[in-house]
Parts: sequence; structure tokens; C-alpha cells
Amino acid sequence: METKTLVHVFRHTEPAARFVSYLWLSLSRKALSGQATFTVALSGGKTPSALYDAISRSKGAFPWSRTHFFVVDERFVPSDDPESTAGLIREHLLDPLSLPGENLHAVLTEGVSLEEAARHYENALRTFFGARCMVPCFDLVMLGIGRDGHTASLFPNSADLEEKNHLAVPVRTGHSPHERITLTLAVINSASNVVFFVTGRDKAAIMRQVLDKKGDAMLPAARVRPLNGRLLYVLDEGAASRIDRHSLRDHVAIVVHP
Ligand code: 6PG
Repeated sequence: METKTLVHVFRHTEPAARFVSYLWLSLSRKALSGQATFTVALSGGKTPSALYDAISRSKGAFPWSRTHFFVVDERFVPSDDPESTAGLIREHLLDPLSLPGENLHAVLTEGVSLEEAARHYENALRTFFGARCMVPCFDLVMLGIGRDGHTASLFPNSADLEEKNHLAVPVRTGHSPHERITLTLAVINSASNVVFFVTGRDKAAIMRQVLDKKGDAMLPAARVRPLNGRLLYVLDEGAASRIDRHSLRDHVAIVVHP
């Protein structure tokens, strides 16, 4: 019997972010009891900065020196561009925590073509994960969802959704003003833990669609189904406001936090 998808709902963003912070700390301590590094792939966009700020403020003793940060996707912009995902991670996590830059594995976006950037990132993934797993198996992948149901830089009806060979692909799409590089579903679905962190009433409609198992198979966020890992949604009440709990009761467990 398929395990139910777990959806945590919080009244506000801050407690939701703290919850993910505690989860991240717990996962990292557990993973590092049996391996040398903890690998996390982080998303960009507007939502995650509140999460990354909560983590950088948390007093828990995170094993930062053994934590390696990767990007779920990257806009093909200079590293100092306000749209850069690596720049977001540096500003809201590495800099406030005074973490060494070498623990962040960013996409090379300067002095190369878009295709070369994707290949370079893919090679960096293969080199880092080596023989640890056939497909890079992140300990934690943090995802957001766009109102069109995209996640990472995997957009609706994109052929990238069927990519089976590459770990990272170049993305040129009308859905975004920037060219991008993104991890493929093969990598995302090989993670041990995938957490969607989604806030805001503007995401309520897409959240209902994604959680409805009959969701459009070409809806990227609905295609995130970790093969052996755990899938978790952490939402604020705005993003959860249109979930039909009764119709989802057979495959979704909803935990409402006070
Ligand atoms: C990105 C993300 C992307 C994001 C969604 C939601 O780099 O843009 O990977 O998938 O999670 O677009 O973005 P917001 O948090 O800005 O709504």
C-alpha cells in the first residue's frame, strides 16, 4: 500500500520555516552518523529567503562544515545578479553563517555557453557523488512551486520532464525571462528527502491540483515522486486554503499546526 503524502500546514510562514529548519537539522545529524557529508539542493525564487533566514538564525548546532550546498536550478545570469540562486544562498545562508564558499557548488554561468554550463554542472555532480549512487542522491532537496505548476526549472509540457540520461539540462523557455540550468526529475526523485516549501494564497489553486493524484501528468511538481525517499509539503494556510481534504483523504495526510 502506497504511503500517504504528508502535508504540514502552518498559520504563518515563520513557524513553517522553523519547522523545516528543525527537520533539516535532524536529517543532517542522522545522515552524518553514517556518512561523511550531508548534501542539500536548494531552490531559488522569492519564497525560500524566509526559510534560509530562519535556518541561518537557528541556534541548533548544524554540522555546517560537512554540509554541501547545491542549486536545484540556476538562472543563466552572472553570480552577482539579484536573480542568481547561488547569490540568494550566499546572501541568506553562507554569509550570515560565515560558511566557506567551497561548500557551495554553484553552476558556472560566466564565460561559457548555456549548454556548457549544464554539462559543467553535471560533471561536478558526477564528480562529487562519484560511486556513492548511480544517480546523485541528495540527502535533502528543497523545492518551490510556480503558479503554473513548475518546479526547479522544469516547466509544464517540457520535454525535459522525460530526460533520463542527463543530470542537469539547459532550459530556454517562454515561461522565464532568463535561460536556466536545472536538475532533472531523475535526480530530484533519487533524493532521500524532498520538501516542497510553499506559501501564499496565490499558490492555493496549484497546490490543490498538484496534491490531487489525478493531477496532470505533465505538471512538473506532480511528477516529483521520490523513488525511495520521503516527500513532504510544508505550507502556510494561504497555500493550503483550497486543498479539498475529504477528496484527498486516501493518499494525503494533512497535519495542521496551531
Ligand atoms: C527558481 C525555483 C522555482 C521556484 C518557483 C516558485 O529558481 O525559480 O527553482 O522553481 O521554486 O518558481 O518561486 P517563488 O518562490 O518566487 O514563488
